[in-house]
Amino acid sequence: MRRLLFILSAFAVMATACQTKAPSVKEADTRSPQEILFEDGNYAMFIHFGLYSKLEGVWKGKIYYGNAEWIMNHGQAGIPMEEYMAEAATFNPSGFDADKIVKLAKDAGMRYIVITAKHHEGFAMFDTAVSDFDIVDATPLKRDLMAELADACHREGLGIGFYYSQFQDWTEPGGGRGPQNDASGREVSFEEYFRKKCVPQVEELTTKYGDIQLIWFDTPGEMPAKYSEELVALVRKNQPNALVSSRVGNGLGDYATLNDMEVPVRNRDGRWEGIDVTQVGWGFSKYDNEWKSPEFIVRTLVSTIARGGTWMLNVGPDSKGNVSEMAAAPLRKAGEWVHRHPEAVYAAGPSPWGHALPWGDAVTQDDKIELVVFDWPSDGVLWVPGLKTGVKSVRLDGKRLKVSSENGWLKIGLPAARPEPLASVIELTLDGPVEIDGTMAADPVMETVVPVEFASTDGCVVERTGWTEKFGEWITRWVAGGFGEGSSLTWSVAFKDPGVYNVDLEYLGAERLEWNMLLDGEEALIDMHKNTSAFAWYRLGWVTIDSPGVHTFTLSLSDGDASSAKVASMRLTPVGL
Ligand code: GLC
Repeated sequence: MRRLLFILSAFAVMATACQTKAPSVKEADTRSPQEILFEDGNYAMFIHFGLYSKLEGVWKGKIYYGNAEWIMNHGQAGIPMEEYMAEAATFNPSGFDADKIVKLAKDAGMRYIVITAKHHEGFAMFDTAVSDFDIVDATPLKRDLMAELADACHREGLGIGFYYSQFQDWTEPGGGRGPQNDASGREVSFEEYFRKKCVPQVEELTTKYGDIQLIWFDTPGEMPAKYSEELVALVRKNQPNALVSSRVGNGLGDYATLNDMEVPVRNRDGRWEGIDVTQVGWGFSKYDNEWKSPEFIVRTLVSTIARGGTWMLNVGPDSKGNVSEMAAAPLRKAGEWVHRHPEAVYAAGPSPWGHALPWGDAVTQDDKIELVVFDWPSDGVLWVPGLKTGVKSVRLDGKRLKVSSENGWLKIGLPAARPEPLASVIELTLDGPVEIDGTMAADPVMETVVPVEFASTDGCVVERTGWTEKFGEWITRWVAGGFGEGSSLTWSVAFKDPGVYNVDLEYLGAERLEWNMLLDGEEALIDMHKNTSAFAWYRLGWVTIDSPGVHTFTLSLSDGDASSAKVASMRLTPVGL
């Protein structure tokens, strides 16, 4: 604790605020202020802003979809280097207002900001001494925007971190995926680029902008380990407490960044972050109106924290440096919720169930479980499976709710109308250490989706797969394949009552596939559908559950092109008979 008092940065203010909530701080908290902001803050703003922002996803009248910060790349517009660099002369984002951005982040409930100081195209958004291709030397704006944002964050008690593309540099000779020769035709090595640009710029970012939260390196490519090691050492030397992202490469870094847009379905150990966007891509794109709603923001934030992570959500200022109201308004709306429910976000521990629940998710605070209800049950009862510890009280907005138990499920009586449109928080105070049976359970009223990660396999293989929709819009899914003679998947699911349930399957495959499902080892459903090459839900039919407790669903493929079949999840919906 004494250590914290000597740190004259805004981190100290934030750290103290977070510590009152962290269970561990009843003893001495030995974490650095940066670790506390990351681990307890749980919510941060990412900003992609650079020369690409000037183009807003359009080049010579043609629209490019997806990651606007990649517009120069041959995968997008393929803009010749000289033409792209010449854009700097007319890049004048005079609307960039650091105070306004910091206010937005605070209104949103975010605890630190990470901004692109240099992205893959090599343009520095700060006043660098080692290149003229920067916002001060090359543009009419002539303002060091990284300094402005760092100052505003420090003044207002937010952390500030810098994104830095350490390997890719598309305009610097020797940079990864960049020109191999300089203007005179001399061949330039990566080593030379690294010494002359990368290292000095990271040195600048870690010495000129006060205490920083972290350096967010990205896309290490085939960079040898010695370079990653040197960058980590450099950050450590100048900013002993600053964190380094895992994308520094070669297995290094202080925390893991998951794939873009990924929320794991099972709790994940270790220090990690999920990242997502308010548009489809990271840099601002003029024709991208797929903005994220307040509901998406609250749900993804809570789900990420419930899986054990921290979440960073991106905004991309436009060519003038302004953040669109379509990004800002949902952030503020979700932020009102975060400010009303700090217990569901700050210093919140992961869900003791280890996965989401049919109506929402759960996080913990000390001896309490915070149930975050996204979908309010329509019949006035919330069913909570698997909780073995007794509950002292159940409260909604401070008012006690009626609670009882049925077949081992907690039955919570709710007001008929949902108290909050975004999500309601029900607080359980436990009378002992939390003990939970995390078996997937079928809600007695709502539908329950059970992904393949929760199935055991016999011959089938469950693996992670990913693809992009628009350029750079990553979708990560776990899917089961390897269907064939004798191979199957088995889900074990707990039920509160006997009853009839509808079973749907989410899968893809070629032509017609015939599925066979056993319930507790007995033939239950056989069905065939014409399939598509994209994941879709198909109905298999009704099954009868004859007793409360755990039942097994075993899926195999009895006819069709087995190599094409990929299953993502099963859905159980009570029919109500
Ligand atoms: C990917 C993209 C990059 C973006 C980053 C954010 O690495 O290549 O443009 O900055 O994701 O996570």
